[in-house]
Amino acid sequence: MNRILSIVQVGHPVLREPTAELTPEALQTDEIQQFIDDLIATMRAANGAGLAANQVYQSLRICAIEVRDNPRYPYRPNIPLTILINPVLTPVGTEMFENYEGCLSVPNLRGKVQRYCEIDVSALDRHGNPINDRVRGMTAATYQHEVDHLLGMLFLDRVEDSTSLVTWDNFERYHRAQVAENVQQLVARYGS
Ligand code: NI
Repeated sequence: MNRILSIVQVGHPVLREPTAELTPEALQTDEIQQFIDDLIATMRAANGAGLAANQVYQSLRICAIEVRDNPRYPYRPNIPLTILINPVLTPVGTEMFENYEGCLSVPNLRGKVQRYCEIDVSALDRHGNPINDRVRGMTAATYQHEVDHLLGMLFLDRVEDSTSLVTWDNFERYHRAQVAENVQQLVARYGS
């Protein structure tokens, strides 16, 4: 049975501590494998696009990412379920785009942040196999958001223009149409 875990809210110190890397041995344990299943179940129950282990009180370098016709982000392209263990991201080039982000640990707030358009990902999958991948566009932004969590950062730290901070209702009312158009252009360019 998978458990739905409670999600840490902004202000709790566990969100601000860099998480601990996993050894290949630790990764193989039933305890960690069950935790990964619980992390996925919790992300899906909360309609998150991703969830980091320290968002459910476990200071471990593990995150889950998935977008599957997400009602929280209806204009976003899908991303297959991905588990990253000990991920390291390297930007490809210097080009960035503006992304309107929200977070399950930051209730009812969204804001504009800059994200790299393309990144190289080096990580392990949940079985300890190496992942070496290049991701682009919205998928790249999601990876950057989740790996920030694992390093003790929140999207709030990257909001340069505090006037972009909005509630979810006001996002719908004043920003969604423009953001949906921007995302469409991004997807047309990068396919993701
Ligand atoms: Ni988040």
